[in-house]
Amino acid sequence: MSEQQHATTDDTDVTSEKLVELAKRRGYFFQSSGAYGGVGGFYTFGPQGAALKGNVEDAWRDRFAVAEGNMEIDAPTIMPEPVFEASGHLEGFDDMLVECSECGASHRADHIVEDNTEYEDAESLPIPEVEEIVAEYELVCPACGAGLAGQAVETFNLMFGTNIGPGDSDPGYLRPETAQGIFVEFPRLKEYARNQLPFGVTQIGRAYRNEISPRRSIIRTREFTQAELEYFVDPEDDEPDLEAVADVAVTLYPASEQNAEDGSEIETTIGEAVEEGIIGDEWVAYFLGVAKPWYESVGVDMDRFRFRQHLSGERAHYAADCWDAESEVDGNWIEMAGFAYRGDYDLSKHEEYSDDRFTIFKQYDEPKTVERATVDPDMSYLGPEFGGAAQDVVDELEALAARDREAFEGDTVEIDLEGETHEIPVEKTGFSVDEETIAGEHITPHVVEPSFGVDRLVYTVLHHAYREDEVDGEERTYLELEPEVAPTFVGVFPLQNDDDLEAVADEIVADLRAAGLSVTYDDSGNIGRRYRRQDEVGTPFCVTVDYETVEDEETTVTVRERDTTDQKRIAVDELAETLSAIRDGDLAFEEL
Ligand code: GAP
Repeated sequence: MSEQQHATTDDTDVTSEKLVELAKRRGYFFQSSGAYGGVGGFYTFGPQGAALKGNVEDAWRDRFAVAEGNMEIDAPTIMPEPVFEASGHLEGFDDMLVECSECGASHRADHIVEDNTEYEDAESLPIPEVEEIVAEYELVCPACGAGLAGQAVETFNLMFGTNIGPGDSDPGYLRPETAQGIFVEFPRLKEYARNQLPFGVTQIGRAYRNEISPRRSIIRTREFTQAELEYFVDPEDDEPDLEAVADVAVTLYPASEQNAEDGSEIETTIGEAVEEGIIGDEWVAYFLGVAKPWYESVGVDMDRFRFRQHLSGERAHYAADCWDAESEVDGNWIEMAGFAYRGDYDLSKHEEYSDDRFTIFKQYDEPKTVERATVDPDMSYLGPEFGGAAQDVVDELEALAARDREAFEGDTVEIDLEGETHEIPVEKTGFSVDEETIAGEHITPHVVEPSFGVDRLVYTVLHHAYREDEVDGEERTYLELEPEVAPTFVGVFPLQNDDDLEAVADEIVADLRAAGLSVTYDDSGNIGRRYRRQDEVGTPFCVTVDYETVEDEETTVTVRERDTTDQKRIAVDELAETLSAIRDGDLAFEEL
């Protein structure tokens, strides 16, 4: 049974405007605080959107936390200023701001350059060069059309600042990435991991960036959700299980191809890409291999998906190498996630700036005998010679002995103290090299970071699921969402407003909910309209209770599948079991 003649439109015809309109009308997402005129860069997920987003987050948690054996934490979104001094965000988390002298609108100068010239990576250019390009191309304000030539381009830090407690003595910031909440807790997290590398910590939560020009609905906002995994490894000993992902087919767009005149994307596998050195780091390759099938499972169209390597000027201050997962939306590629090799940058910085230890003790298989150079200075000489600075001299001598024992080979040794060079007789330093047996050493783990933006993924999933077709001569819009993430799995309708039909429908709703399915009940409007409503929010199945249900000896209902609109009759007492099996992937609707 089918009510449909297929005439599905080409996906590339789908415009974001249609999706944004549907999202608002059907409760996926809309600009927040609309009653007060709305505020740029802040969006509210409505009932459908919150459910879809929650399902995507659950799917991410299942794959990247549970299936990988990682720990999940939930840290505060406000953190004190020293955290961001250490992380480098206070100093370097900037975008290029240009303000229009006519209308006062603020814009990202690099975006204006990229949107209106052949420059593709303006973010990596020095500010004076961006100012020159603005002048040379006579670029104008996107809001009012006034020329921007001669306007200063300035750096603008993207962090939202606040004060912790009364007064302003304790500044804090809304975290610009969930990652820092994981890094600062490393001294405790390593204990939970029993001081054994490798281990991973995940966090799903809000991040905040005071974007100069938020745009394209939930693609660039000022408050958004990240799902991040920080995977701590011993760079010398730990290796990923590459074999598990070696055969995953991927579309890669390496930096070399982006820089080449006729460069293009490469179709390969994770295994081949590592062998050929296209993906330099095996850990990054492993997580790309895990991510690709996961993206497919939540509904990203694999014909509109690729991994793109960052160009050298594009990489964040902490990243040694980085690949983005990108999806194509209305002809534009958008970054959904970044996979970065952060090295020991973060833990070393927090070790340097805080009072805690961000290293891990690595026990050797066998104790090792090592030579250690030490000093035991003669204070009766250093005291009178250096006065209050004598201890600084001791510290300097200890550091020098550890890093350059040859410096002690002559009669005197030179040290630098506050810009001045001092010569000290070696016999006064107590320099010696002794043998020592050690069980292990303190190492700073390296970090591999898959960092997913949930909002951009939700947008992609909706966009890639958007379909228009014709059913019985009528235009229909539907979302071909994967059952795993669809906000509602089944809609239940009584055919008419009739007490008998409604009583059975109520019972079915209760049964299906008891079986753990997400169910919506709808008894308003004609049945065709109710189907369209569920199609538009992407509900995979609808169950209709009609007169056959209550009159026939065997109690059955009509179950209609969203994409084909095919309908089958199923016994009510088998309904919960059948639909649960379909949801769990153990049964296909066509097999019924
Ligand atoms: N910890 C690494 C990190 O934060 P990022 O590339 O800056 O890396 C990761 O952000 C992901 O967060 C991006 O791939 C994107 O999906 C999402 N994201 C970043 N800024 C965003 C914004 N203003 N609005 C929505 N999502 C954003």
